[in-house]
Amino acid sequence: MPRQTPERTATLRRYLMCRPTHFTVDYAINPWMDPTQPTDTALALRQWERLHRTYRGLGHTVELIEPVPGLPDMVYAANGATVLGGRALVASFRYPERAPESDAYQAWFRAHGYREVHRAAHVNEGEGDHLVVGGRVLAGTGFRTSRAAHAETARLLGAPVVTLTLVDPRFYHLDTALAVLADDHVMYHPEAFDADSRRVLRTLFPDAILADRADAEVFGLNAVSDGRRVLLPESAKHLAGRLAEHGYEPVPVDVSELLKGGGGAKCCTLELRP
Ligand code: ARG
Repeated sequence: MPRQTPERTATLRRYLMCRPTHFTVDYAINPWMDPTQPTDTALALRQWERLHRTYRGLGHTVELIEPVPGLPDMVYAANGATVLGGRALVASFRYPERAPESDAYQAWFRAHGYREVHRAAHVNEGEGDHLVVGGRVLAGTGFRTSRAAHAETARLLGAPVVTLTLVDPRFYHLDTALAVLADDHVMYHPEAFDADSRRVLRTLFPDAILADRADAEVFGLNAVSDGRRVLLPESAKHLAGRLAEHGYEPVPVDVSELLKGGGGAKCCTLELRP
């Protein structure tokens, strides 16, 4: 617990989201997905609508991208791109099931006035593996985004990139293992990273909130912070308490149906950084 609870400041954000109109689990590309288990698209839609309303209620702006039939994972908009300094680096997906999403995201950025829209040449799953903190980009690899993509991200987005290697297949994207809370503060699950990456994280963020396995397994780290208010799954009760101790306002959301695809609140949210 910090000696004195720091004062946290919210800044209003612009997000891109995709309604789960076509959500289902009919293939498995991560350990959470089980195509033999039924999914409830109507419930996914209700949970997503509530998430969308929550952002708007907090004062954030939410843009929408039209869902494409046959692309059930498109609801996880975080994977579509990484946006920084008005530049959009559109994803190149690891698995063919998601590959067509790239065209849809590229078209959205072009239609919405982005002058610099790049398409990643290497496997790059957008904000699933690229988290901006302060001026730098923390970039995950190990399961999805390739290591070679990190250099490309640094070049095309013009920001220093810190490579972090994920080692637990359940935490296959960086945003399932680490959440950015403020410009100089994060929370993460150390066991999701290899020893080198843990060392890097300890050096960069000595006062990070460390999440235990139970917090991580309910996707507590798939959280969205505006600097003060932190949206996280309502099942992550312990983590919510830790956040409050550190001066944040936890905002619980129920995304249980979307967890069947292996994604939570953050996965559904791509930040359009100015
Ligand atoms: N089913 C999707 C996949 O495996 C889930 C993506 C979750 N997104 C995220 N940003 N972690 O690709």
